Amino acid sequence: MMYREYMMEKREIFIAYSIVIMVVFLISGPTYLIAAISGECVNCHTMHNSQNSSVMADYGASGKPWKGTGPYKALTRGDCLGCHGIGTSKIVTIGASQIPQVYHTAAGADLAGGNFAYILGTKGSGASDAKGHNVTDIGALEGTLTEPPGHHDPNDIGVDITCYGNFGCHGIRTLPVPAFKGIHHNNVDGKLDVADTPQNSYRFLMGVYGYENTAGTNKWQNFDSNEHNEYFGTTSPIDFGGGCSMASCHTSGGNGIQPTNHTMSMFCATCHQNIHILEAIGGDNSSPFTRHPTDVILPNTGEYANYNPTGSNQFSVEAPVARDTVPSSISAIVNPGTTGVNSAIVMCLSCHVAHASNYPDMLRWDYDTMVAGGGGSGGCFTCHTTKN
Ligand code: HEC
Ligand code: HEC
Ligand code: HEC
Ligand code: HEC
Ligand code: HEC
Repeated sequence: MMYREYMMEKREIFIAYSIVIMVVFLISGPTYLIAAISGECVNCHTMHNSQNSSVMADYGASGKPWKGTGPYKALTRGDCLGCHGIGTSKIVTIGASQIPQVYHTAAGADLAGGNFAYILGTKGSGASDAKGHNVTDIGALEGTLTEPPGHHDPNDIGVDITCYGNFGCHGIRTLPVPAFKGIHHNNVDGKLDVADTPQNSYRFLMGVYGYENTAGTNKWQNFDSNEHNEYFGTTSPIDFGGGCSMASCHTSGGNGIQPTNHTMSMFCATCHQNIHILEAIGGDNSSPFTRHPTDVILPNTGEYANYNPTGSNQFSVEAPVARDTVPSSISAIVNPGTTGVNSAIVMCLSCHVAHASNYPDMLRWDYDTMVAGGGGSGGCFTCHTTKN
């Protein structure tokens, strides 16, 4: 074969390959991304919990109760906070492995879930139980509340919740509490609209839909209108119907407690039912309400039509909205009064963070600065645009 012919053939093969790859990509789409954990095993595991006769399972922020000595199940070098509360920055890098942090003392912004350090006072304006969920793992039990406000059977769950399991949020929520195992290495990122296992649910929250911001330098964060998580909501909250038989939370087949309509707000309502369900907000999804509504659409009328006036009506990370359709990519567009990937649904996380914030009632902002007629912006005024 002549050199030119050879090159031609190579080029054809290359073009043919490119087409095949493009077609495969177009058919499969960039939707489901397995972001399997990466990095050397030793970054996260220890085989015998011993190296030069010293323990290796010693991950965690120094001086904190979760910095243990092991050994831990699945041979990890720490428990949940051992890895997720190393403490020095919002993302800790060990070798080539990045670990998102929910407890850290570094100045500046936190990851989307918030930061347990505000409860302990190691970051922010001072320690306070009202700033977050006092999960037992942080070693500071809730001192004011005695139950989750709004729970239908508060004595059953009690106040001392944990990171995962029946009395927690992540993983399968059943008794006996299943080992948290096989989830991390199978983590699915990006669009999550199946949610029949913890690993393909939003942030390992069994049953919750969403789109995880897991790419780029601002991953795991609600950074700005272009880089943020997408949350799932619906246009009317669940009608509880007065009984658990409605199967709004308690599911069968060993899948435990989960929001059967897959929304973030209903997830919160698995412990705070009476803050969310249709009966509790006034019986229907139209104003006037008896409690602040969630899983209702932002109207395209009056002050609501002008959502986020200081941010050119784009997605606000100060008062984010959910969508009633799980998008395939992050969108900066918010269209009040519509359904679909650019819809605007009020959710618990429009006003609260999930773990802890620097403000009372775990709010995204200081409620004391929300003064009617005071000329303020942000917070409540992101949606109630004329009340300032
Ligand atoms: C050995 C370290 C380690 C331990 C122990 C650990 N994690 Fe993780 N976790 C990670 C890493 C690394 C990631 C990032 C995974 C990725 O990039 O896909 C992660 C991610 C997560 C996420 C985010 C998942 C997502 O969808 O983005 C959650 C939630 C989480 N872990 C919860 C837990 C809980 C709950 C426990 C305790 C039962 C725990 N982790 C124990 C290392 C750990
Ligand atoms: C960045 C952290 C990280 C790295 C690196 C890592 N793992 Fe894991 N691995 C975890 C965590 C956290 C768990 C326990 C929680 C879970 O299973 O969700 C786990 C669980 C496991 C399990 C039991 C559950 C399952 O998925 O089968 C095995 C086996 C395992 N790892 C093997 C490995 C091997 C082998 C390597 C290296 C090639 C490795 N891991 C690297 C974090 C890591
Ligand atoms: C597994 C049960 C459970 C789930 C799920 C849950 N919470 Fe809670 N929540 C509690 C308990 C228990 C308390 C009281 C103890 C505490 O505050 O530490 C509480 C307290 C609160 C408080 C008051 C904080 C304080 O100390 O004054 C707020 C606000 C809150 N939750 C919001 C939410 C939001 C928003 C979600 C969803 C992202 C959510 N909760 C999901 C159990 C839960
Ligand atoms: C994400 C948008 C959003 C945020 C943030 C928000 N609201 Fe609302 N609010 C709404 C929507 C939507 C309604 C219902 C409007 C309707 O259907 O007429 C509403 C209704 C109300 C109502 C009237 C209820 C009724 O019966 O119509 C009050 C009062 C209210 N909000 C106060 C607040 C306060 C105070 C804050 C801040 C702590 C706040 N809201 C934050 C969207 C929001
Ligand atoms: C419009 C903003 C807004 C939304 C949306 C919202 N909250 Fe709140 N939440 C507040 C404010 C403000 C408080 C302080 C108490 C008050 O004003 O009633 C509060 C207080 C709480 C408390 C503490 C109650 C107590 O007794 O100490 C809990 C729990 C709570 N919210 C859970 C939720 C849950 C769960 C959702 C979603 C179903 C939700 N919130 C949606 C603004 C909001």
